[in-house]
Amino acid sequence: MRLATILLSCLLTIAAARGTHRLFDVDGDHKLHTALVTRADKATTNSVREAFYAAKVVPDVLPSFDPTLLLNVNFTNSGLEDPSVTVEPGVLLTRNQTKFIPEFSISNITEDDGEKTYVVVQVDPDAHTPQNPDVAQVRHLLGGNYTTDGTAATGLALRNSSVAVSEWMRPSPPAGSDPHRYVILLYAQPDNFSAASIAPLVPVNASSSPLHFNLSEFAQATGLGLPVAGTYFLTGPDAASA
Ligand SMILES: *[C@@H]1O[C@H](CO)[C@@H](O)[C@H](O)[C@H]1NC(C)=O
Ligand SMILES: *[C@@H]1O[C@H](CO)[C@@H](O)[C@H](O)[C@H]1NC(C)=O
Ligand SMILES: *[C@@H]1O[C@H](CO)[C@@H](O)[C@H](O)[C@H]1NC(C)=O
Ligand SMILES: *[C@@H]1O[C@H](CO)[C@@H](O)[C@H](O)[C@H]1NC(C)=O
Ligand SMILES: *[C@@H]1O[C@H](CO)[C@@H](O)[C@H](O)[C@H]1NC(C)=O
Ligand SMILES: *[C@@H]1O[C@H](CO)[C@@H](O)[C@H](O)[C@H]1NC(C)=O
Ligand SMILES: *[C@@H]1O[C@H](CO)[C@@H](O)[C@H](O)[C@H]1NC(C)=O
Ligand SMILES: *[C@@H]1O[C@H](CO)[C@@H](O)[C@H](O)[C@H]1NC(C)=O
Repeated sequence: MRLATILLSCLLTIAAARGTHRLFDVDGDHKLHTALVTRADKATTNSVREAFYAAKVVPDVLPSFDPTLLLNVNFTNSGLEDPSVTVEPGVLLTRNQTKFIPEFSISNITEDDGEKTYVVVQVDPDAHTPQNPDVAQVRHLLGGNYTTDGTAATGLALRNSSVAVSEWMRPSPPAGSDPHRYVILLYAQPDNFSAASIAPLVPVNASSSPLHFNLSEFAQATGLGLPVAGTYFLTGPDAASA
């Protein structure tokens, strides 16, 4: 077994022994795991929830938001001087920083959370502009079959194992626009949720238009429910085109 795997199984054993105890909390004898809680020290489920309400992600994207996990999002573009950046709610990122699909991980989790399958969605409620969201929401990603796969610096890494329902589209707000909110949400994937099962219910697939998407309606129609975690960032047009 790799060291990370051993460490993880120790954590799971400790968590199981302690019932509902959260895996990566630092308390007394668990100082060992400091590296795993770096991110959780900054954001909490409560602070992310408050950020969503303050930025009107509720109600613009979600009817309500009560996260139980932390979703960590890490963008990497090896062409940049600072190749990776972690998303803190509301952070302003450049188009270059958000060029490629990010990596996801979860923290503040129970053993059960580590065994679930997840759907990741990213939407832009501010297209073409925050003042005139005439084509909103724009669907930038809808991918299922994400499962936990080993440890990351920020918790348990999430990896997908099938083709996205709707592929990643990089943020590209039009010249002159204020920065848009890009909202990334994590849902527990229901057993009956698949690319084939949603097709008769919603006009959402790899080739359907990403414009005029309505995540609340989509979640309602497909039984996806409410997200268990999320975050958001801001991206504006490149300075040269503004
Ligand atoms: C972890 O989740 C619990 C239960 O949802 C919550 O009370 C706690 O504040 C969370 N901790 C962090 C660091 O977000
Ligand atoms: C984006 O990054 C590339 C290098 O990968 C650089 O040439 C380009 O100027 C950057 N664009 C902006 C708007 O900073
Ligand atoms: C983001 O992911 C990259 C690639 O896995 C990793 O090298 C980097 O340390 C991570 N950065 C942060 C800030 O988590
Ligand atoms: C997951 O990985 C596959 C390649 O194995 C890729 O084609 C697919 O689009 C990815 N899905 C997501 C949501 O990124
Ligand atoms: C999960 O993978 C299965 C098998 O490849 C596929 O049929 C299904 O559509 C995928 N689910 C989602 C939500 O992408
Ligand atoms: C995608 O969805 C659209 C709208 O519902 C439908 O017309 C089209 O046939 C679907 N395409 C595929 C490849 O399933
Ligand atoms: C999405 O649908 C809900 C429920 O029908 C509606 O209240 C909301 O205004 C719609 N949002 C957008 C952006 O169209
Ligand atoms: C899954 O089952 C629930 C409950 O029966 C139903 O409301 C939902 O529409 C189903 N979802 C799909 C994608 O079939």
